[in-house]
Amino acid sequence: MFTSLQPKVLSILKSKNDVDAKLQEVCELLKKEVAHYDWVGFYFKNGDKEELKLGPYAGAPTDHTVIPFGKGICGQVAVSNQNFVVPDVKAQDNYIACSITVKSEIVVPLFVNGKNIGQIDIDSNTLDPFTEDDERFLEFVNGEVAKIL
Ligand code: SME
Repeated sequence: MFTSLQPKVLSILKSKNDVDAKLQEVCELLKKEVAHYDWVGFYFKNGDKEELKLGPYAGAPTDHTVIPFGKGICGQVAVSNQNFVVPDVKAQDNYIACSITVKSEIVVPLFVNGKNIGQIDIDSNTLDPFTEDDERFLEFVNGEVAKIL
């Protein structure tokens, strides 16, 4: 499934739309095509501030449009520079709930020239759905997105 999504992601990123429109389309594609992706969004470092700001996303609107570094799964990834797979959000202390239907989450940092400038964040209503295939695929997506930023 992820293999067939890769060319679709590339074609969206190659289009003539502006960056936000492309990222929006990527979010919608992933949410639609991957059964266990229920909310897909990008967060980016907010200028010089030690916080993340919500960018394009697909899924229910969230109150968490700004997340301080260190807070929640997203804020921890902003600091750790590492993928964070959460099989069961109930088992996490430092977690920011966006919706009561969410059971698991994966956050993969996005690097431009080796600098962590944001992340892709996926929420799932399924318990423990993420495998290394998700990680490799989302690293691919972020790697391609980095080229257009
Ligand atoms: N759950 C995230 C907050 C962002 S929402 O999932 C959209 C976190 O703990 O950082």
